[in-house]
Amino acid sequence: MLKAVILIGGPLKGTRFRPLSLDIAKPLFPVAGLPMIQHHIEACIKIPELKEILLLGYYPAVDLAQFVMEMVQEYKINIRYLQEFTALGTGGGMYHFRDQIRSGNPELFFVMNGDVCASFPLEEMLEFHRNKGESAVMTVMATEATRQQAPHYGCIVRDKDNSAITHYVEKPSTFVSTLINCGVYVCSLEIFQIMASIFNRNQQEYYNDNMTNGTKESGYIQLEREVLSPLAGTGRAFVYPTTTWWSQLKSAGSAIYANRHYLQLYRTHHPKRLATDAATTVIGDVYIDSSATIHPTAVIGPNVSIGPGANIGPGVRIRESIILQDAQILEHTLVLHSIVGRGVRIGAWARVEGTPCDPNPNKPFAKMDNPPLFNNDGRLNPSITILGCSVTVPAEVILLNSIVLPYKELTRSFKNEIIL
Ligand code: GTP
Repeated sequence: MLKAVILIGGPLKGTRFRPLSLDIAKPLFPVAGLPMIQHHIEACIKIPELKEILLLGYYPAVDLAQFVMEMVQEYKINIRYLQEFTALGTGGGMYHFRDQIRSGNPELFFVMNGDVCASFPLEEMLEFHRNKGESAVMTVMATEATRQQAPHYGCIVRDKDNSAITHYVEKPSTFVSTLINCGVYVCSLEIFQIMASIFNRNQQEYYNDNMTNGTKESGYIQLEREVLSPLAGTGRAFVYPTTTWWSQLKSAGSAIYANRHYLQLYRTHHPKRLATDAATTVIGDVYIDSSATIHPTAVIGPNVSIGPGANIGPGVRIRESIILQDAQILEHTLVLHSIVGRGVRIGAWARVEGTPCDPNPNKPFAKMDNPPLFNNDGRLNPSITILGCSVTVPAEVILLNSIVLPYKELTRSFKNEIIL
């Protein structure tokens, strides 16, 4: 029997995802029509031996309750949300809830960062891990990055012959390698023995420091720095390199990029999810919720997702964008490289446009840069345009590279601004 743990963080995380994470927990933000972590769940349920999925985070349980209920109904598998009493880090929650993970004595379990998106080759990874023998404690999925970008991730050096991890540094200050940690792991239960000694050492330090260990709670463990780094060189941690699509979902801009790739994956895995309705003009890969209304003269795509209850008027043109639940876009408006929040109303003949922040297509293995909102001069970095929930945009205005916080009623055009 196998299990999976999905790390979803909590309200203090996902700040680069604002204002979209202001009204919905980031892990539930819809990408290609499904909450971000539903893509993880779908990857897990493809493995017949996998019997339970545990979501670990510190969001209030009420934020996840409905989602969990819907997932259990849809996939008929045991899915539970385990709430950490405070942020325990990427490893602390796993250790805190170790009895829940160990119950039923799973042979192995997956750990997946909730903020990555990928085609998740879990079955291949599992086979790879099993072939490494009983003493293997952990296998890490990895991908190539550019020399410049790799130090922003966890960097792995491996033994070329047997793929054992010989060295691991999380976000190194100098170059270590271009092979980076994808935040997807297979672990054996033995990992909890290793974590026990880290937990005990941390506890000792915490009490020696009179419980003033910075802002870190006792029980805080970083899986990458405190568990994976020391495992490197022991011959018990391995790397599974993949060349399939992988990206992080940190900024709102990366959601547009992820949306495009998940839609592309639907072509082979879930073709029925892609819009083919003859009454609507659709270009390329498009997801349209069955309860959305699209006027027959609107032209949608490529790479657009439209959420439940959305209403798209006559002559509207939408490309490379995510339109969330109950948004209304009136006639002849153009939406490009943007995220239109829940319940937003955009008037007629408006233009809402952002700047894509895709990885450099001319550099092999380039990943998406997730620039901060502002550059060093305090100016807004060009980004996709984001309309927070329930924003109203009047007719005939232009919104360019702007971020509008929830509930604003705009009265004019804006360019490169955050409208608070
Ligand atoms: P940043 O660039 O700072 O975001 O670092 P990172 O890419 O290494 O990500 P980080 O280690 O912060 O998070 C990796 C994954 O673990 C994400 O899916 C987070 O939501 C999740 N995570 C982070 N902290 C916690 C935590 O305290 N508890 C739980 N359960 N999950 C966490």
